[in-house]
This record gives sequence, C-alpha cells and structure tokens, in this order.
Amino acid sequence: MRMRFKPWARPELEESFFYIDNPQDYKNKWKTAFENEAPIYLELGCGKGSFIAKLSHQNPNINYIAIDLVDVMLGMAKRNVEVEYGIRTTTDKEEIEDEVEKGKQVKNLKLVRYDIARVKDIIGLEDKIDRIYINFCNPWPRGKHHKRRLTYDKNLINYKSFLSDDGKIFFKTDNDELFDESLKYFEKAQYKIEKKTYDLASEEKFWDGEDNLKTEHEKMFEADGIKIKALIASK
Ligand SMILES: C[S@@+](CC[C@H](N)C(=O)[O-])C[C@H]1O[C@@H](n2cnc3c(N)ncnc32)[C@H](O)[C@@H]1O
Repeated sequence: MRMRFKPWARPELEESFFYIDNPQDYKNKWKTAFENEAPIYLELGCGKGSFIAKLSHQNPNINYIAIDLVDVMLGMAKRNVEVEYGIRTTTDKEEIEDEVEKGKQVKNLKLVRYDIARVKDIIGLEDKIDRIYINFCNPWPRGKHHKRRLTYDKNLINYKSFLSDDGKIFFKTDNDELFDESLKYFEKAQYKIEKKTYDLASEEKFWDGEDNLKTEHEKMFEADGIKIKALIASK
C-alpha cells in the first residue's frame, strides 16, 4: 500500500525531541541517547507506529528504538506516539523545550529513518539490544527478492552483531510462506525457536507472558479472517 506524501512529516521529524537524524553517531552509544542504563528493545519496520507508541508508553523503564525507511511512516508514527503520550504536536522549538523542561517529552523512545539492510552501521554489540520486534514485514514473494526479507538468514545473522546474549526476536506475520521459510532462516542463522504458533489469537500471553499489542497491519489481516503466525527466537 503506497502512502500519500505528507509535506509535514520531514519538518516535524527534524524538530522532534524523539527523532534521531544522525543514527550513525550513536553506534555502541545508544545509552547516551536515552541518558540512562535501561534495557534497549528495537522494532524493525515500525510503519505508522501504533504498536511502538503503546508498547513504549506502557513500559517507561525500557528504552525503544523504532526504525523505518519512509518519512511518511515515521511522521505518522511520531504523531501516534504524541497522541499516546498526550503531547502536543508542534514544530515550535520553544514549546518543545518547555515540554522537555517540564519532563513531558517522550524519553524512552527514539524514531530512526534508516535502511534495515544496513542496520549494523548504526547499532553495535555495546548497545546490547535485548529484544527485536519484527511485525508484518514485507513478504517479498519473488525468489530473487527473498534476501530483502527482514527475517532472511543473512539479516538474522547481522542482528546477532548487536543482540545481547539473552536477546530474543519476537516475530509475527500474516503470511504462511514467509513464516515457514523464516523458520528455516532462523535455523540456518542458528537461533533457537523458543515457541511458535499458527494462530496467535488462540494463545494466551504468547509473548513471554506479555499482552499482544496489535499493529496496523495485524488489525487489517484479522478483520479479513487471516490467522496470525508468530514465533519467539533466542540468540
Ligand atoms: C508491511 S509494513 C508493516 C508495518 C508495521 N510493522 C505493521 O505491522 O503495521 C512494513 C514496514 O517496514 C518498512 N520497511 C521495509 N523494508 C525496510 C527497510 N529495509 N528498512 C527500513 N524499513 C523498512 C516499510 O517502510 C513499512 O513501514
């Protein structure tokens, strides 16, 4: 689904307290971006961000990095986060600084625009990422495009370069073929599949006892009666 251009997205992101425009500068130093030592979780391909907005708001003691490639998506994610946290949408520097001083800004989430294929350039082992979320990534059905899948074995191996020793990947998708092939990719990349399901809705507290927060795509697929497939893999 192609998103319509949103002229406000880039200017808003550039002024935002929780958007990082120079992620390369933070490799192995993400704790300095959050100014604390809390664990860091990563979402790859956050889209319009309603998942990360809810997750980060519910868990103030975890820091989150959410990556997408597209300004429009990140702009919409920014606004969804602001709604969730009850923050006014503005590009006025003084208003933003005022909110930061009052402790009202989003402190535990950073939005980042970057190509996940090159994610090793911006996150390193020192960042000790404890969890990666991959939600409804593009299935890339044609064989010659499989390597673009966010769960392709070479990409999974790349993620190991910053996943902590106890780190896990939480993956969900609507797509049967992508799911079955991803199981093989995880095996090839030498992850351990901790658990898996072909019908997430039938599982209670599948995510290590945590609630399932639905993404935009998940709501669409569920409305069409498509079962959601999910797995947890450990490093
Ligand atoms: C199908 S959407 C899913 C969005 C969201 N996770 C959801 O479940 O609603 C996939 C998202 O991944 C992003 N994406 C795809 N390939 C990417 C890449 N190589 N780097 C960064 N983002 C990417 C797209 O821009 C899009 O927002």
